[in-house]
Amino acid sequence: MSKASLVVLISGSGSNLQAIIDAVKNKQLNADIKAVICNIADAKGLQRAADENIDTHIIDHRQFDSRELFDQQLMKLIDPLKPDLVILAGFMRILGKPFIAHYHNRLINIHPSLLPKYKGLNTHQQAIDNNDTKHGASVHYVNDELDSGQVVIQTEVQVIESDTVDTLARRVLNEEHIIYPLAIKLHCENRLSFKEDCLHMDNKVLTRPMLWKDNKLVSR
Ligand code: GRF
Repeated sequence: MSKASLVVLISGSGSNLQAIIDAVKNKQLNADIKAVICNIADAKGLQRAADENIDTHIIDHRQFDSRELFDQQLMKLIDPLKPDLVILAGFMRILGKPFIAHYHNRLINIHPSLLPKYKGLNTHQQAIDNNDTKHGASVHYVNDELDSGQVVIQTEVQVIESDTVDTLARRVLNEEHIIYPLAIKLHCENRLSFKEDCLHMDNKVLTRPMLWKDNKLVSR
């Protein structure tokens, strides 16, 4: 199977980017990261990419008069790279409908909650405030409603009484670093695939997100 081409969009620390880089380096993932694109000039993730000689691009959203113009500039950078998958890894800009339509079924995101719970920001605080016993993360394809595309893999984290946002976020992030490269691998190997917009896993319709549990992927 030929190498998949990936483009990763980030805004911050890039720890998920690092997990993807590591998965490529240790050959878990047969892919090339063609570029890392970031909207924040001093984001730590840019250094992670540069350390691996991955091309980086900074596009500062504040330099654009509208979301559409920003999105168009992103597309101009991404399209020549012909990515099999465009990966949002802590990219903190909402993308417009034309952008999302353009990368239909090849745009993926990771979100730190058990979707459909807690879309948007401050997910860890909400889990604590609501006395949830379980929290976690979800990898989903992107559609044009925020954090609402089809979820492919989730992982659960127990919330303990002494948890703060930081301790909980750290445990969730550790799990993200496992499930995101895994979902990307499944996409790149065509084990996750769309047939007329219907998501399949190993040629079977995926009706519920898979769960990463006890170090393996289980169906629910
Ligand atoms: C992660 O929690 C991810 O779920 C969310 O943004 C955060 C990015 O962290 N979308 P990092 O930049 O990958 O360290």
